[in-house]
Amino acid sequence: MDLYTAINQRRTIRDFDDREVDKDIISRILEAGLKAPTNDHLRSWEFIVISDKEEKAKIVEQISKDISISRAAGIVKDWQMTDDYQIRMYMDGIPKQYSMLYHAGCIVLPFFKQSWPLLEPETLSSLNPFASIWLCIENILLAATAEGLGVSLRIPSKNELDYLRETVHYPEDYYMPCYLGIGYPAKDAAEISQKQIDINDRIHVNQW
Ligand SMILES: Cc1cc2nc3c(=O)[nH]c(=O)nc-3n(C[C@H](O)[C@H](O)[C@H](O)COP(=O)(O)O)c2cc1C
Repeated sequence: MDLYTAINQRRTIRDFDDREVDKDIISRILEAGLKAPTNDHLRSWEFIVISDKEEKAKIVEQISKDISISRAAGIVKDWQMTDDYQIRMYMDGIPKQYSMLYHAGCIVLPFFKQSWPLLEPETLSSLNPFASIWLCIENILLAATAEGLGVSLRIPSKNELDYLRETVHYPEDYYMPCYLGIGYPAKDAAEISQKQIDINDRIHVNQW
């Protein structure tokens, strides 16, 4: 698939059929992740891949399973969202935080190495390892799209991170920026429209 096609086709997918994804395809996608730019040239990134149903259930155990549409509407209201595109995305996404990972063919947990506290940055460059893993993640999203797969993404809460450190035993100097659910989109998978933005409204010539 041509790069611009992959960029234009990629959407967050939160509805999957339970089909497993071939291990070779996952390896190819993660290898694309490893090609991303990195602050220190070392690509200190690791991935835990979980396809087994019981193991997936263990990974997502801390995530709420049953957030109703009305609860989602309450959250959207509390957060004072007014943009229709944004509201549609959150209304779709909030109730699916558990199912979008559990029903994905596999869950991938990406990790990056950082030996100083992530949440106490002193300079912008203190955040370089965090910035770099997100470039790796974008490559993964695009490669998955090129493979005909969809990806869901969730930022873990502090409780979830504490639980996962105990459960999958990742080292003290590694951080997990997000969960990724990678799988085949369900036939009726929701694809929420991106907000339409005219690039000419965002390009400033010489000055803002
Ligand atoms: C940094 C970041 C955090 C995100 N966190 C979540 C999340 O916790 N749960 C979720 O369902 N989607 C999450 N998303 C997906 C966004 O909702 C999605 O990318 C956005 O609405 C744009 O839609 P698109 O990916 O289909 O273009 C996150 C995306 C990014 C880049």
